Amino acid sequence: MINVILLGPPGAGKGTQAKRLEQKHELVQLSTGDMLRAAVASGSELGRQAKKVMEAGQLMPDDIIIAMIAERIDRPDTKKGFILDGFPRTTAQAKALDKMLAERGLKLDLVIELKVDDAVLVERISGRFACAKCGAGYHDLYQRPKIEGRCDRCGATEFVRRPDDNAETVKARLAAYHAQTAPILPYYAQRGVLRSVNGMADIDEVAAQIEALISELRPG
Ligand code: AP5
Repeated sequence: MINVILLGPPGAGKGTQAKRLEQKHELVQLSTGDMLRAAVASGSELGRQAKKVMEAGQLMPDDIIIAMIAERIDRPDTKKGFILDGFPRTTAQAKALDKMLAERGLKLDLVIELKVDDAVLVERISGRFACAKCGAGYHDLYQRPKIEGRCDRCGATEFVRRPDDNAETVKARLAAYHAQTAPILPYYAQRGVLRSVNGMADIDEVAAQIEALISELRPG
């Protein structure tokens, strides 16, 4: 079992790399952003709140997010391990995660920081789109479908862009990352679980750097 956090600013490649790890190592991706987008799509009370907060590029309240992740970790598909994508995002969430794992006899093996310059992030986010049917992620410049207009994974022909992927919201999301999320890095560095990778490299190269870190945990 391996439990990993992918930590990095919006557009750093957390979702892209989490999906690769999921396929290769039978781990489950736990993305708080995806959970909130599902709530928005369902039209629930939580979804209505999340829509406003996400479109403003701000963070949802810690207690809501912590309860959401605790419920998700308790499902049986996490038995072989999980990749946390987009959580924790504040010191309070990091501390709550420690408590949650300790209560369940689980351990955090690795925190991988994806380091990417802010200027590159804006370009990545503004070029991002996804398959409307299966959610497979693409980019206008860096990751186009193999057959133009057709999803590589499921063959669908409709694609969507996230409402929070516009220049103004991206600025607010980056500010939230620097003010509220980056301060968690020293917390994990002190515990010896933090490793940084060069997230500016191309997608395969970033995956290779992450793979090297995972093999240190699973030698042979
Ligand atoms: P969330 O969905 O977590 O968004 P985010 O952190 O802003 O991250 P992104 O999904 O934008 O980027 P990513 O790092 O996954 O990059 P990706 O792989 O897609 O959160 C959304 C909102 O929900 C938050 O703003 C907040 O309101 C709320 N929220 C979520 N979690 C919360 C929490 N814990 N607490 C409170 N609120 C919370 O890559 C981006 C693009 O670049 C893609 O097109 C991809 O193809 C391309 N790409 C990826 N890697 C590379 C590469 N190496 N080279 C070139 N292109 C690349």
